[in-house]
Amino acid sequence: MPIHPESLPARGTAIVTGASSGIGAAYARRLAADGHDLVLVARRAERLRTLAAELTGQHDVRVETVVADLGDAGDLDRVARRAAADDVGMLVNNAGINGYGPFAETDAALLEKVMAVNVVALTRLARAAVPGMLARGRGAVVNVASTLAFAGSLPPDPLPVRAVYGGTKGYVVTFSRTLAAELDGAPVRVQVLCPGLTATEFHLTQGQDSVAGDVARVHDDGGMPVEDVVTASLRALETGEVVCVPGLVDGEAVDRIAAAEFGLRSSSSSTLAPRYQNPASSESPAALDSRREDTQSRLSSQETRDQLGVRSVVLVPRLDERHCPLVMGTEVRILGHGGIKATRRRSGSVRPPSARASASWKRVRNRRSRSAPRVVARGRRGGRGLASRTGGAG
Ligand SMILES: NC(=O)c1ccc[n+]([C@@H]2O[C@H](COP(=O)([O-])OP(=O)(O)OC[C@H]3O[C@@H](n4cnc5c(N)ncnc54)[C@H](OP(=O)(O)O)[C@@H]3O)[C@@H](O)[C@H]2O)c1
Repeated sequence: MPIHPESLPARGTAIVTGASSGIGAAYARRLAADGHDLVLVARRAERLRTLAAELTGQHDVRVETVVADLGDAGDLDRVARRAAADDVGMLVNNAGINGYGPFAETDAALLEKVMAVNVVALTRLARAAVPGMLARGRGAVVNVASTLAFAGSLPPDPLPVRAVYGGTKGYVVTFSRTLAAELDGAPVRVQVLCPGLTATEFHLTQGQDSVAGDVARVHDDGGMPVEDVVTASLRALETGEVVCVPGLVDGEAVDRIAAAEFGLRSSSSSTLAPRYQNPASSESPAALDSRREDTQSRLSSQETRDQLGVRSVVLVPRLDERHCPLVMGTEVRILGHGGIKATRRRSGSVRPPSARASASWKRVRNRRSRSAPRVVARGRRGGRGLASRTGGAG
């Protein structure tokens, strides 16, 4: 995405959803220090009032608070009207809930709420804000997703049990990347921020209710400090990086997603693939099942995790090898039949899948190499509680 320095909202009003704690509160503090007027949105009125008083006491800015449940249609209408106002230069779509738990056992109403807050509200607010930003010729939208958007089919242990949460964050990534491509050349920036495990109160609730109390808390799972997450996001906004993963050392891993996607699409045609036409040409269902089971049991075996130390190692099946650099962790071990087939550090390069993909990849890479150096920070895995029995989350 070309850089438009003029598109950065110099001192416009910034709307931050989920500003009553965690990443949203840290974003609000940083933007106030940079001179932005603010609109802070969340359900906990007292927390918002306290933060607003702190910010107006320290900086020469105006701060409005909007108490709203973004899962409620009427409240969302009110916030959307505010997002469409003329003074808005930045929207930080940060509010999010996890609804972690086994899909078949989790309250269906909670799962709907996860979709309403993480997907519907985020999209609605972007839709409200972007037309005005385009008309005024400047603006930025930051949508907060998660590295769990890239966890794909990895089993829920040590990661959280997260089908709907992962699905919503996958939506946020695809929506943001596709919107950024649509607005390529327009003076409005779109970023998807994908934190890994972050030190907030996120894992203290599934999200149906706020965490009680007027003082910010941090879950036991630890994670990256919120200030670092915000630093990464703001730096990435300056450089024009669309997908910002604060703890990802190998920034080109993001380019490889584009290459893999291009490879998949360009090698798929309107003709039925041979393995579906002629079952004999593909692996037998029994062999396929046995290979999947083999991989799955290796991935979930406590012994394997203990032996390899899941806090520093990520195990991936050989079939998912291309995606491995995206997974948080310091080292990736690739599982095949009979055990570990390869060990790869995140900086290891993975070739694009085809010559056509290679051309696309080079285009993407050339574009990126024109931008300034990437933010480098180190994420952490590990933890307890809602996040997972033993692993990282968010
Ligand atoms: N912490 C992590 O490990 C992690 C990792 C990756 C991504 N993320 C993402 O980061 C974002 C911020 O989370 P956080 O880690 O900062 O957790 P947090 O401290 O729990 O913050 C979540 C914020 O969202 C607000 N919120 C929740 N439901 C809401 C609703 N229905 N209406 C309005 N506001 C609502 C909460 O405020 P009220 O309760 O006052 O409404 C709170 O301000 C989320 O989108 C999350 O998915 C977190």
